[in-house]
Amino acid sequence: MKVGIIGCGAIANIITTSIVPENNGIEIAYLFDKDIERAENLASLAGGVAALDFDEMVDNVDLVLECASPDSVRSFAPEVLGKGRDMIIMSVGAFMDIDFYQNIEKIAKKNNAKIHLPSGAIVGLDGIKAVAKFGLKDVNLVTRKSPKSLGKNIDKEEILFEGKASEAVKEFPLNINVAATISVACQRDINVKIIVDPKVDRNVHEITARGDFGEFKTTTMNYPCAANPKTSMLAALSAIRLLKSFNETISVGM
Ligand SMILES: NC(=O)c1ccc[n+]([C@@H]2O[C@H](COP(=O)([O-])OP(=O)(O)OC[C@H]3O[C@@H](n4cnc5c(N)ncnc54)[C@H](O)[C@@H]3O)[C@@H](O)[C@H]2O)c1
Repeated sequence: MKVGIIGCGAIANIITTSIVPENNGIEIAYLFDKDIERAENLASLAGGVAALDFDEMVDNVDLVLECASPDSVRSFAPEVLGKGRDMIIMSVGAFMDIDFYQNIEKIAKKNNAKIHLPSGAIVGLDGIKAVAKFGLKDVNLVTRKSPKSLGKNIDKEEILFEGKASEAVKEFPLNINVAATISVACQRDINVKIIVDPKVDRNVHEITARGDFGEFKTTTMNYPCAANPKTSMLAALSAIRLLKSFNETISVGM
């Protein structure tokens, strides 16, 4: 499977470093970034091509992996899906715009392309998907991050945001993809609280879900990526797992 990557930052570097040495049928063939130097550096690591021409990349790959920004999803996903190429999208916040969501779902269906949203920096999506249509009453996400991770300079714990996921992604577009992923998984605008906490050095996501099935609670305490403290290691690892799953016969979990 030939893969083209949009965005050659923290996540792309972890994915490439993990996938390339395994030689397991996944070829990181093209690398695209608005910063061409980043694309060239990663291309030399991957043994791939730094794409100067986005169309050429799309024409020559089976799948495009986006790990750049919500803006890049809006700019590039219609073309990629329109050419019938599957996509993995990390910047899930883009999907909180319902018009955009419906439009690219339509393009993907028409062109027989699939859109994959990895579970990213959280655990528990399997359960949320399972109960989404079976009396799920409410889903709450509490995200706790360090001042560094949220780009703040404070020395006391503070609630930065409390409200719906659709509003959270507008205020924190690069920090709260998990809220968007959960919302897409259960097809509702979930409740979100974002806390900046000088006492933590991890990106902590606590999900609670209640409904006719009972109740569950998951807590993920992620180490941030060294290259980008906003991003959790687990997010990159979930994309690696998803990529590998396309070549597997037995699929476990969801
Ligand atoms: N789904 C999740 O759970 C999850 C978790 C963490 C991060 N993310 C998202 O994944 C994305 C990548 O994260 P990262 O930590 O690797 O970011 P990063 O800042 O380390 O790297 C992003 C790269 O994309 C490039 N880029 C940005 N916009 C672009 C555009 N329009 N066209 C071309 N290149 C562009 C930048 O130049 C940069 O090299 C972000 O949007 C982030 O919010 C999702």
